[in-house]
Amino acid sequence: MQTHSARAEAALIKNLDVAQTVPQRLHEAILYASLGGGKRMRPLLVYAAGELGNPRASATGTLADADHENMLDTAAAAIEMMHAYSLVHDDLPCMDDDDLRRGRPTVHKAFDEATALLVGDALQTRAFEILAKAPGDGEMRLALIAGLASAAGSRGMAGGQAIDLDSVGAKLDLAGLQNMHQMKTGALLTCAVQMGGIVANLSPAEMRALTSFASALGLAFQIVDDVLDATADSQTLGKTAGKDAANDKPTYVTLMGLDYAQRQAQEMHQQALASIDSFGLRADALRGLAAFVVNRRK
Ligand code: IPE
Ligand code: IPE
Ligand code: MG
Ligand code: MG
Ligand code: MG
Repeated sequence: MQTHSARAEAALIKNLDVAQTVPQRLHEAILYASLGGGKRMRPLLVYAAGELGNPRASATGTLADADHENMLDTAAAAIEMMHAYSLVHDDLPCMDDDDLRRGRPTVHKAFDEATALLVGDALQTRAFEILAKAPGDGEMRLALIAGLASAAGSRGMAGGQAIDLDSVGAKLDLAGLQNMHQMKTGALLTCAVQMGGIVANLSPAEMRALTSFASALGLAFQIVDDVLDATADSQTLGKTAGKDAANDKPTYVTLMGLDYAQRQAQEMHQQALASIDSFGLRADALRGLAAFVVNRRK
């Protein structure tokens, strides 16, 4: 994990490429939003899934080792940019209205609301730009771009965020809650895993196994986020604890109770592990990340 997070950090810095770029304040805010904290979960998933296969002949030829590694770095940077954007907008006063993120003032607090809005816009488009410009197989790049676009859009993260905001104070049923979590959080996590699988050139059957893994893990991730919001302190979390109850948000904890939420996270963990049995030892990095997701303290 340490090697991969250092690699993710480097890929992010390289691909943000904002040194001495004007307008200076916007670019400072972009760096503030993307660097200096964060677990880098999505890049770690890209790398772990990217280890599952050796680059084989693709439709348009063989992906050389250097292109393979570079494509993984680009995918890791792109998904983290998309995630960072989602956090900046999630914290805005018109959404969750949060002052604290990754142990520091949120972007709209450290800068201003308009800048925070533009940071999100710019990070999102930058993610697609770096994928479009990455050297290597064209079909693979298109698959990565299409996957990221769907995961972040109205049928994925943005749609889930809309349901989240619409459901304040309302009683979602369990199926509605699960669907919201899959969309707002599961979609980008699943996309991260799939991006690794695409670069690794996995077979359709392998991609299906990987997707089942990711979808269980994505749900577990948001359930644990809900549990931590209710049980951890702000200092540890780096964000304001107890915010979901304060904002009257529908979560696994507020709707189903803490015990149920914790059991469900464990069950999703087991389900995720069962999905990748067939990969054998190759999937150990993914297993490690799955354990990290459910056992994390922040
Ligand atoms: C927080 O994501 C928002 C959710 C989707 C639950 P992370 O817990 O991955 O946040 P960072 O990147 O580590 O700060
Ligand atoms: C966020 O869910 C999901 C996103 C798409 C960013 P939360 O609103 O629970 O995330 P935190 O707790 O603020 O990180
Ligand atoms: Mg939110
Ligand atoms: Mg939030
Ligand atoms: Mg939360």
